[in-house]
Amino acid sequence: MSQNGNKEAWGSRIGLILAVAGNAVGLGNFLRFPVQAAQNGGGAFMIPYFLFFLILGIPLMWIEWGIGRHGGKHGHNSAPGMFHVLWNNPAAKYLGSLGLFISLIILIYYTYIESWTLGYSFFSITGKYFNIESFDDMRTFLYSYQGRTESVFFANILPAYIFLLITFGLNFWILGRGISGGIEKLAKIAMPLLFIFGIVIAIRVITFGTPDPALPDNNVLNGFGFIWNPRLEELGNPSVWLAAAGQIFFTLSLGMGTIHTYASYLKAKDDIALSGLTTSATNEFAEVVLGGSIAIPAAVAFFGVSVTTQIALGGAFDLGFVSLPLIFSQIPFGEVFGFLWFLLLFFAGITSSVAMGQPIIAFLEDELGVTKKKATLLLGVLVFICINFVVFFLKNGVLDEMDYWAGTFGLVVFAFIECVLFMWVFKGKKAWDEMNEGGDIRIPKIFYYIMKYVTPVVLFVIMVWWLIKDAFPILMLHGVSEDNIPYIWGTRFLMLILAGLILFFVKLAWDRKYKNA
Ligand code: PHE
Repeated sequence: MSQNGNKEAWGSRIGLILAVAGNAVGLGNFLRFPVQAAQNGGGAFMIPYFLFFLILGIPLMWIEWGIGRHGGKHGHNSAPGMFHVLWNNPAAKYLGSLGLFISLIILIYYTYIESWTLGYSFFSITGKYFNIESFDDMRTFLYSYQGRTESVFFANILPAYIFLLITFGLNFWILGRGISGGIEKLAKIAMPLLFIFGIVIAIRVITFGTPDPALPDNNVLNGFGFIWNPRLEELGNPSVWLAAAGQIFFTLSLGMGTIHTYASYLKAKDDIALSGLTTSATNEFAEVVLGGSIAIPAAVAFFGVSVTTQIALGGAFDLGFVSLPLIFSQIPFGEVFGFLWFLLLFFAGITSSVAMGQPIIAFLEDELGVTKKKATLLLGVLVFICINFVVFFLKNGVLDEMDYWAGTFGLVVFAFIECVLFMWVFKGKKAWDEMNEGGDIRIPKIFYYIMKYVTPVVLFVIMVWWLIKDAFPILMLHGVSEDNIPYIWGTRFLMLILAGLILFFVKLAWDRKYKNA
């Protein structure tokens, strides 16, 4: 049905670029990246990080834009149909279903984290956490907000729930307004603001200097040194390499099915070579320059290197939600800086979460003929039911379990499949022409060989390595506390139900559409 002329499309080139950059720039850039860097030896992390950016990030970005625009030409805006066009085999659509599954699972937990940032921007401007002076208390504040500890600062989880409802409502309102009327408009407002806020906060951090003259080692320069001085001896550690690859995937939104969907709303001859590169570069600017200049340098300036490492090891989000509020509460106009920081995170988050919702809406629309309104409503109800598990069983590890299978392991599997399908099954030559068609630049030829040989092999190695090192132990519940085991199984059961549901609908769509073919 989307072939008959009323296909949705981006309104303008700049709108498209901002939307894809919005998709990629997310909580991963400002919260996950600094923690990953700190946990994995600072400067040592940046070497594999940039290497993987070149041999995985950029090539996969072009591949996903290519698969997406190609699928769009054939009326498919989500991965099952796109894979079917690449490979005329009944299995293709089921492999593509992974692109719906991964974005759905990430959407479920990401929306909740995103809502904390909205809550915290409110607590910043109202000064709610400004009389807290120690780490432990600031962490208790966070845990109490999340309902993970007994009520100290918050009587119950209601405030968190209210911010979740607002966040959730906004996401689905935007999704319901469509590609150019919703997602593109949002990106045009949120992305410029995000960059302005980011630059303002980064400048504030750089000018911290040495906040406490009695502790001269705790200064901003040492903070930058911590990220940028390469400590080569760490490179022998395989987990540093795996973490770097994982971060490249997560931050560029690769291996999830969302870039494909955005690219499918391009016109057949629109450029992808330059646009793919521009959005990757924009993401890296937001991550390395802005993300790298805020949380870590600020924490080192105020608390020193060893404490910063300690905080980072404590949890993926502590650096953003615990150490920065402590700093804001000590500086002049801290309310305003805190407000800007968390609003920046909220903008980064919402421009990513709408991207995770779009593939399923597109699937329902163009493969099952459901109207946009109904598709949005259906997805909304499903996500809403599932989010409650994340909210109420956060302390039992539900979020982490989803993040591992979908947000870490699943991405690599999906990326490997798409890379092989495009460069080998569909054929490298055709794929290459597809990616270059209408291009404002020509992709350097060396990338042809990288995409065809290097990227799939590296993906395969990472996949197997991960399988042995993490996936198997995690599957066998190593290190999970006795009390949480039922919740982990519950989470897996929920994910299986969702996977089953997706497979069922994919089968239904194909039975209906192609039964006479
Ligand atoms: N890239 C986003 C980030 O850095 C996360 C994301 C995941 C976006 C999945 C879209 C889809 O936070």
